[in-house]
Amino acid sequence: MLSNQIRRTYIDYFVRNGHTEVPSSSLIPHGDKTILFTNAGMNQFKNVFLGLEKRDYTRAVTAQKVMRVSGKHNDLEEVGPSPRHHTFFEMLGNFSFGDYFKADAMKFALELVTGEYGLDLDRLWFTIFREDDESEELWQKVGVSRSRILRFGEKDNFWQMGDTGPCGPNSELHYFTGNKKEDNTADRVNSDKDQTTVEIWNLVFMQFNRDSSGKLTPLPRTGVDTGLGFERLVRILQGGASNYDTDLFLPILDTIQRLAGQTDAQRREQYVAYRVIADHVRAASFLIADGVLPGNEGRNYVLRMIIRRALRFGRKLNFHEPFLHKVSETVVENMGGHYRELIERRDHILRTICHEEERFARTLDLGMEKLTEVIAQAQMAGTSSNTIPGDVAFKLYDTYGLPLEITRDEAKERGFTVDEAGFQAARQAARERNRASGQFDANYDLVEAYRDAAETLKAEGRLPESGVIHNPYGELNVETRVIAILRDGEMTQHAVPGEHVEIVLAETPFYVESGGQVSDTGMICAATQDETQPEWCVTVRDVRRPAPGLIVHVCEVEWGEPRVDARCIAQVDEARRWAIMRNHTTTHLLHKSLRAVLGPHVQQQGSLVAPDRLRFDFSHPSALTADELQQIADLMNDAVLSNYPVTAREMPYKEAIAQGAMALFSEKYGDVVRVVQVGNPGEAPFSIELCGGTHVELTGDIGSAIIVDENAVAAGVRRIEAVTGRGALEHARRQAQQLSIVSQALGTTPDHIVEHASRLAAQLAETQKALEKAQRELARARFNTALSGVRQINGVTVLCARVQAENADLLRDMTDWFREQHPSSVCVLGAIIAERPALVAAITQDLTKRGLDASKLIRDIARVVGGGGGGRPTLAQAGGKDASRLDEALTSASGLIENALLSAPK
Ligand code: ALA
Repeated sequence: MLSNQIRRTYIDYFVRNGHTEVPSSSLIPHGDKTILFTNAGMNQFKNVFLGLEKRDYTRAVTAQKVMRVSGKHNDLEEVGPSPRHHTFFEMLGNFSFGDYFKADAMKFALELVTGEYGLDLDRLWFTIFREDDESEELWQKVGVSRSRILRFGEKDNFWQMGDTGPCGPNSELHYFTGNKKEDNTADRVNSDKDQTTVEIWNLVFMQFNRDSSGKLTPLPRTGVDTGLGFERLVRILQGGASNYDTDLFLPILDTIQRLAGQTDAQRREQYVAYRVIADHVRAASFLIADGVLPGNEGRNYVLRMIIRRALRFGRKLNFHEPFLHKVSETVVENMGGHYRELIERRDHILRTICHEEERFARTLDLGMEKLTEVIAQAQMAGTSSNTIPGDVAFKLYDTYGLPLEITRDEAKERGFTVDEAGFQAARQAARERNRASGQFDANYDLVEAYRDAAETLKAEGRLPESGVIHNPYGELNVETRVIAILRDGEMTQHAVPGEHVEIVLAETPFYVESGGQVSDTGMICAATQDETQPEWCVTVRDVRRPAPGLIVHVCEVEWGEPRVDARCIAQVDEARRWAIMRNHTTTHLLHKSLRAVLGPHVQQQGSLVAPDRLRFDFSHPSALTADELQQIADLMNDAVLSNYPVTAREMPYKEAIAQGAMALFSEKYGDVVRVVQVGNPGEAPFSIELCGGTHVELTGDIGSAIIVDENAVAAGVRRIEAVTGRGALEHARRQAQQLSIVSQALGTTPDHIVEHASRLAAQLAETQKALEKAQRELARARFNTALSGVRQINGVTVLCARVQAENADLLRDMTDWFREQHPSSVCVLGAIIAERPALVAAITQDLTKRGLDASKLIRDIARVVGGGGGGRPTLAQAGGKDASRLDEALTSASGLIENALLSAPK
């Protein structure tokens, strides 16, 4: 079966069984900050599982693009040597949202793999979560033999998408791919023994939500989330020895071989390099199709890293010219049938990869040489540690663009490791240095290049001494001229579509990040005489001031070729700018309101003015009360509704201060300052501040301002976040929606939700109490059965027993119960708590006078279970490592007590 048919068969099977076919979501998990990349089919349904969102279907089926190269699920280092791991792969999945649960999920899975795909039941293994007796029964009901069902712990059979989010116990299907019947054994499941038995399908029974403290809360409704490793299934059905021996990869590997001009024998010998290149090019192509660009942070860094890593493996096949983009062509052809975005963005994908290849090719050889040198030096010096220091690894990255991952690969091949914590520390330090000096991201070596560029432009008379004309306060649309195009600080004459360049204009209306307000974005296009489409156009993603007087627009060329000297229109994204202005003016209203409500000790400590929100940090010793927050919000919104004019004027610093303008203590101001005033003419202003930012004309333009969060950032510094305008509308709408979903889930209406929720909370507390009581009674009853082991030695009641207890508190309680009933007694109890042995010894007071000591006793017996403990002569406790020796420890306790009592004075 061809891979396309295999994918289709899966989807069609589930559609026939009442599932809705849903397209794959993007590799960028929009709206979910807990993960860097989409890592499972269920990501796009996270809120549906959590009960926060409703769809018009309760069963879904997808073929989902996923990346596992960061965070909780990271397979990067396995890729290549492993026949079945990838950075990018496809996951087929069927989902139930409060619809079917375990039984049907199992029935579907079995029917599909043994029926439609014709896999042999005798080659399948079924794993279940250690405590999941129900699944064992259900699998047997659909025809699985008990001997093929295996139990595992959390690591293998409890799935969660990240540190937080929906999760639950799972059951996996594993498949034996070997030839020798005697290898089809249980010990090959979930083991590194050999690679003959592979996990193919994971059925997760969604039951809980894990919060950031690690606590599990049951979901409003249970669900099913499954993930079938597509490449593995294709491999099995096509009979290959690895995932790479399938029609998903063979065409890619063939292209690599053809480009490298190698023989089949060479290809076999270099299989790791072939696999890494094929895997990474697939990942890069899909990432770029979903809008990721190579860069230095987050997702962009991962893309850059995998392209560079693929290039470095390309060196092993003697590639010295860009070739990855040619490999990518095969990926696009091969997979574009199902994933149309590859076809639609084909040129952009190839160009982006090629550009990154060219960029890195220049330094790769230098970087590798340097790295070889570093390792050789260390070897010669005979250092015992075999570690490449973090700052050296960082220097390789910063100067030659060698990602840490490449340094790590190379080091590993020569028996070295990299001090990765040291690398991160050096990277962080560099970031902070840049920030402090007002420069941007990595690459502080570029600072010089920009300074040179500004000087050259001035010397050539293209840039006036006073620098670029900058007016972010006027028209957002300005006709001007391109005076320079820079590529990484180097001047160039023109740029081509898809390229990332920096454009310098004679005049610009774009705001440059300062005073917390973020830079504008927008477009620069060729000026036209009439309404025709401009000859070229670039998107402006960021604007920076890398050297005095120099303002660069960080751009991507959309179409055409911008050239130096071309006339153009610079156009700020107006909607975004308005959102920013609303937030900036609101920051002033907030500042003033905080001082009015809390007092004049409130000082601004920092702020962020972005399009979607504003953040304001200020000095105040304690958390704000609900009442204070209400007063602040009211004051702020009264000012909005008063529709005050907002005006800006320049005046001498002294005069501004004399008028009562608020200034930042830490800021240095020139002689002449800009003063922004909010208030009616002729009246005392509502607010007056020194500020270089952009503002609305009338406070009514803000619409409405809502405080969404208040928290602490440092000792004595609080932070408020707020939204305005459309952001406020959106916030209000979301809250109303959530309220209505919550009321529905609780079976009431928003009007009654408060009383309803408090009633439920009270009921829950009562139930909890009753439950605890019942648990204790149960524990007591269980404990009573242990009493059959009670013995009398020399007039003393002795009990050494293994009991069931959920926690150590209960274990101690049990010894109390025992001592209450037996005024002269010794009691040693053992239990397995969270997979570890726990022991408690209790001795009544009278016996301590006869030389018995619980803490000594516990130390002696804890040794048996590989642990230690201590306490008082009357009560002591211990924990250990070896649960299998708990009974032995209790027997030894019994012997020790007997000896002590028989030899003790009466
Ligand atoms: N979400 C589950 C997984 O990724 C199915 O394994």
